[in-house]
Amino acid sequence: MQKPRVIIGISGATGFQYGVKALQLLRELGAETHLVMSNAAGLTREHETTMSRDDVIALADVFYPTGAVGAAISSGSFRTVGMLVAPCSMHTLAAIASGVTDNLLTRAADVVLKERRRLVLMTRETPLHLGHIRNMATVTEYGAIVFPPVPALYAGPQSIDQIVTHSAARAIGLLGFESTTLPRWGETLTAITAEGETSC
Ligand SMILES: Cc1cc2nc3c(=O)[nH]c(=O)nc-3n(C[C@H](O)[C@H](O)[C@H](O)COP(=O)(O)O)c2cc1C
Repeated sequence: MQKPRVIIGISGATGFQYGVKALQLLRELGAETHLVMSNAAGLTREHETTMSRDDVIALADVFYPTGAVGAAISSGSFRTVGMLVAPCSMHTLAAIASGVTDNLLTRAADVVLKERRRLVLMTRETPLHLGHIRNMATVTEYGAIVFPPVPALYAGPQSIDQIVTHSAARAIGLLGFESTTLPRWGETLTAITAEGETSC
């Protein structure tokens, strides 16, 4: 049986590890991953990780160079569950919002939108100017989900890896892949009563 296909785009915002973690989790969950990285993502990989380009490529089932605008994921007839851009730079967000598809990452995102499939964007910038906010509103109107990787401190993370894992797991959850290790509020955490008192 065909494994569910997921496109992972890694762009050049800080947080290269979010894309890496998503690839690792999706492999554990039995997805077939299709990876495309922007040129600027090479800079953040070098800056933020000790991984080589080949180390990252090895985490995916299929890898595409960013210039391969005729690759399988550039066509709507190639069936996928959807796409996660992790992290998503303001440049890539703007390209998706305006429909500028001059590399394979933004073309694949555009295709996911036109096919009405799920597009999750882990947008990363702070603070935001009005143009960023407008682009987020635009892609939301087109059907994308804007998912900034904001740490969930209620989960009591003890390491950067736990923070990254939590956000990456929530993001792939929006694509229908549920990580069994992710603590969810009200399920594995201590409940807070309506009055604000902690209950057992
Ligand atoms: C170390 C580093 C961190 C960066 N962090 C961000 C960021 O958090 N958000 C952002 O929008 N751009 C960030 N940038 C700038 C982008 O890499 C730059 O705008 C690039 O043109 C984005 O291209 P891309 O969208 O094709 O990946 C960063 C660049 C570097 C080198």
